[in-house]
Amino acid sequence: MDDGALAGTRVLVVGGPREAAEGLRAQLSAAGSPSVDLVPVLDLVAVQAAAAQPEVVIALSGTPADAVRMQLDPLGLDAGPPVVSVDELADARGSLDEAGVRRLTLRLEHRAMRRRLGELEAIVASQALSAFRDTEAVRVDSLRRLALAAEYRDDNSPEHTQRVASLAARMARHITRDDRLVWLVRNAAPLHDLGKIAIPDSILLKPGKLADEEFEVVKTHAVLGARVLADGNSEVLGVAERIARSHHERWDGTGYPDGLQGEAIPLEARLVHVADVFDVLVHERPYKEAWTVEDAAGEIRGGTGTQFDPGVVAAFDALGAGSWTIG
Ligand SMILES: [Fe+2]
Ligand SMILES: [Fe+2]
Repeated sequence: MDDGALAGTRVLVVGGPREAAEGLRAQLSAAGSPSVDLVPVLDLVAVQAAAAQPEVVIALSGTPADAVRMQLDPLGLDAGPPVVSVDELADARGSLDEAGVRRLTLRLEHRAMRRRLGELEAIVASQALSAFRDTEAVRVDSLRRLALAAEYRDDNSPEHTQRVASLAARMARHITRDDRLVWLVRNAAPLHDLGKIAIPDSILLKPGKLADEEFEVVKTHAVLGARVLADGNSEVLGVAERIARSHHERWDGTGYPDGLQGEAIPLEARLVHVADVFDVLVHERPYKEAWTVEDAAGEIRGGTGTQFDPGVVAAFDALGAGSWTIG
C-alpha cells in the first residue's frame, strides 16, 4: 500500500461493529491518515460533533451512506464532506487494499476539483457582474454627455432635460414598483429632444409662432433623435430611442411622428410627454411667457384622455404641486 496516499487526510468512520471500525482505522493510519475518528452508531449529534473537521466520512457495512449524508447535509447543498460506503472501497475480505485507498483519494481529488471549480465560477460570475456594471456606467456616462450636447442646441435652459427626466421618473415611481424602469426613465429621458441637434437655429430659436413648414421641420426631431439612438445594444439606449421617437405622440392618436394611440405609445414616452409639456409651460421660451404652476397643471389635467395618458396624469396629480417643480 502507498504509505502516503492519505497523508494529512482526516477521516471519520461511522458504524460498527467495533472491530471493523478499529481495523479500518489501522488501515487508514497505515495509508498516512493522521487522524481517524470513530463514531460507533449513526447518531446525529455524534456524527455532527465528530464531523466538524473530517475531509471524508466512511460508512461501515450496515450503515447506509445515504443516511449519513442526510444527517451531515440535510438540505442536499453538497455542503458536508463526501460520504463513502466501505463496500465501495474494501475488498471481499473487508480490507482496505491499495485499490481501495486509490478510490478514496480519487473521491477526495474529485471533491477538491469541484470545490475549485465552484470558486472559479463564483469569480467569473462576480467579474462578469462588475464588467456589466462598468459597461452600464460607461453607457450612462455617454448618455449624460450626449444629453449635455443636446442641451447646447436646445431652445430650453440646460436644466430642462434634467427636470423633465426627474419629474418623469417620479411619476414612473408612482405608477410602478419596477425600480429598473424608474432608473431607465431617469437616465434615458434627458435625451428626449436629442434630434433637435439637427434643427437649424433659425427655426429652433425663432421668437414667436412658427410657420407650418417650419413646424414640420421641428417635428422631425423625434425621428432624428430616435435614429441617432437606434441599435444601441443596451436597455437604456433602447428606452431612450423609444422616448425620443414617441414623446410627442398623443393618447388620442393625433400626435407625431407615428400617430400611435393609447397604450401603443410606450409608457416611458407617455411619462416624458406630460413632464415635458409641464416643464415647457412653467418656463419662459423664446415664443412665450412662463405660466404659473396652477395654470400649467390645469392644462395637463385638461389634456387627460386626449393629449395625455389618464394614468400618467393621475400620477402627476397624486405627486402634488410640491413635487412638480423639483429639479
Ligand atoms: Fe420634443
Ligand atoms: Fe423637451
